Amino acid sequence: MTALAAPAALTTLLASPEVTDVLVNGPGAVWVDGLGGLRRVAVHLGDAAAVRSLAVRLAAQGGRRLDDSSPMVDVHLPGGIRMHAVVPPVAPGGPLISLRVFRRQALTLADLTALGAVSAEGAGVLRSLVEGRINLMVSGATGAGKTTLLAALVSLAPAGERIVVIEEAQEIVTNHPHCVRLEARNANAEGTGLVSLTDLVRESLRMRPDRIVLGECRGPEVREVLTALNTGHDGSAATIHANSCGDVPARLVALGSLAGLDGRTVATQAAAALGAVVHVARAADGRRLVTELAAFELADGQLAARTALLFGPDGLAEGPGWSRLAERLGRS
Ligand SMILES: Nc1ncnc2c1ncn2[C@@H]1O[C@H](COP(=O)(O)OP(=O)(O)OP(=O)(O)O)[C@@H](O)[C@H]1O
Ligand SMILES: [Mg+2]
Repeated sequence: MTALAAPAALTTLLASPEVTDVLVNGPGAVWVDGLGGLRRVAVHLGDAAAVRSLAVRLAAQGGRRLDDSSPMVDVHLPGGIRMHAVVPPVAPGGPLISLRVFRRQALTLADLTALGAVSAEGAGVLRSLVEGRINLMVSGATGAGKTTLLAALVSLAPAGERIVVIEEAQEIVTNHPHCVRLEARNANAEGTGLVSLTDLVRESLRMRPDRIVLGECRGPEVREVLTALNTGHDGSAATIHANSCGDVPARLVALGSLAGLDGRTVATQAAAALGAVVHVARAADGRRLVTELAAFELADGQLAARTALLFGPDGLAEGPGWSRLAERLGRS
């Protein structure tokens, strides 16, 4: 594997199994995020010029340019690391580097249970959602663990099925034996060559998918996703940024408007296409937890996500959305 063009102090931090993010705040301050939450570490990477040249070097290693004319970059690096970097004057306090570490090996649902993210009982419900071919959204805030949970759920699909995974850049690591990938592409300097998520969702339909998995639903591709899920492909899944299950309907409507869909159309299409949303959130101590399962339904022409289960420290608590979902899962 190609070594990261970074000082040993940084590569050592990135290699620690507990570390999920390393944040370099200009000269002086290096923070890590992981099992215990965000904490500052005694690592020094030099002055602002040294941090800037590190960011430039890493960007170049990922095939991108970082300079005064393009002062921000988001790039994948060797070893399963994603880097975002921004340099002055956009970052007036000095260069800011945010590194996210992806696991080289998939975390299974059993691993997530062992990490305390979900109880064995809760994991059983998640497993039955996949087995029951419920179309799922995994919601959560930035870095809450959405992609990781999505990958763990994808791995549970029967081995005899074909899964097409669509992403902006490869992040989903699964154990599934029949998983093929499509990756979006930015336009080149001449403004051509763009392959969008919307294009890829459309293409995937011609690839005989049993399930379609979209790394993140974040733009107008929501229209193609809803169409795809309303025409078969049960058991598909995507992640979506939202602060709670209850916020997902409004987020879907907002994304739909980017594709020219009005709120009512999104509501009827989403209510028919999507079965449930699983929410992940970070606890005060930094742990990443599954917190809620909600069922989508149409209420007075509006899309609603009704709480089905709350995943608390004392077990699962049923909400008003559970009975219908339980019926679909044969658990009532
Ligand atoms: N339950 C967990 N326990 C420990 N680490 C976890 C857990 N879930 C995810 N992680 C780690 O946390 C980091 C963030 O996870 P992930 O990329 O899944 O979050 P995300 O919500 O998809 O982030 P983004 O908003 O950037 O898409 C990764 O390094 C991942 O390996
Ligand atoms: Mg993600």
